[in-house]
Amino acid sequence: MSPAPLSILIAPDPRLKTRARPVREEDGAAVADLVPRMFAAMYEAPGIGLAAPQVGVGLRLCVIDLQPENVKTPLVLINPSIVAASEDFVTREEGCLSLPNQYADVTRPARVRVRFHDLAGKSQEIDADGLFAACLQHEIDHLDGILFIDRLSPLKRNMILRRLAKEQRQKAAG
Ligand code: NI
Repeated sequence: MSPAPLSILIAPDPRLKTRARPVREEDGAAVADLVPRMFAAMYEAPGIGLAAPQVGVGLRLCVIDLQPENVKTPLVLINPSIVAASEDFVTREEGCLSLPNQYADVTRPARVRVRFHDLAGKSQEIDADGLFAACLQHEIDHLDGILFIDRLSPLKRNMILRRLAKEQRQKAAG
């Protein structure tokens, strides 16, 4: 029997605002179990990135797949950190599986270098720009309890949260 699918937490769930703890060696079995289920939930949504806190797991772990040319290219990042960021910034529209149907322009460094461990425990470094850079920063933010709306003005943030709450109420009312 396959395990129950993971459900993705919707803002303002307090678990989305909690800083996740580093993955340790003894978490290996839990991580091995979690990663394929996170990919399944992400592809099902569908989305291009998902962080463990979004499925209620407070570990520094995220999965990304930008699916270039519709080819699955899964990437697992364990304990990722931004080790360098460009001085120039770009603004790009972002969304989030924890804020369904909500989009806003977010300004972030245009390029980042990210260090992380892969599933085999090997240390890796990647340089990213464009959508990939934004996605990496967005997912790493989740590990610190930061949502993309936290990078907007309070006015804009509250507007989105109110709209989301209203849509969720309407959805629940069916
Ligand atoms: Ni997100």
